[in-house]
Amino acid sequence: MKILEQPANDEFERIVRMDWQKGLLLPQANVHETVKTLGQLEKIFLNEDARRAMEPDTVVYRVQAWCPVPDGTEGAQFWGTTVVEPGQVDSEYFMTHGHFHQKRNRTEYYGTIEGEGALILMDATRSTWKEPMFPGSLHFIPPNVAHRVANIGKVPLRLVACWPSDAGHDYDAIRKLGF
Ligand code: F6R
Ligand code: ZN
Repeated sequence: MKILEQPANDEFERIVRMDWQKGLLLPQANVHETVKTLGQLEKIFLNEDARRAMEPDTVVYRVQAWCPVPDGTEGAQFWGTTVVEPGQVDSEYFMTHGHFHQKRNRTEYYGTIEGEGALILMDATRSTWKEPMFPGSLHFIPPNVAHRVANIGKVPLRLVACWPSDAGHDYDAIRKLGF
């Protein structure tokens, strides 16, 4: 039997490298990196005056996404990392924007690498609850549930995520109605 490392006609890159200690993907093709600053997180924190009074270039969180197939492909998965910095806007901890998946029934896994966090979840009836995030905690985000992560500790909160490649993201619902 002849075993090929990767079929010659394969259209997708299927191996990338993680630094598991840091919970980060090494930079490579198909890994998209984004940074969210305080200036970009309008209407996310309760106290808008306090947010506006802070340095707008302050990094709140960084995201990496490895998309081995085109966005919207059914039946595949994306892999990502998020690092939320420690900090507060008034009495609220630094947190991610938060979203429902565009296809509401698409689920997700979050796994904590380092730090102390709160995974905040909200269903379609706007009922909200949270789960503690700690090194090694692995979270299943059910269908129809919006998700957001807050860093409630003193060091960067590092997590990995895996979600369906056809999930999509609906940020508007959170921006308009909040969590
Ligand atoms: C993907 C996912 C995470 C988040 C990331 C940043 O479905 O849930 O990769 O995208 O933690 O949070 P948002 O996207 O809310 O800015
Ligand atoms: Zn998600």
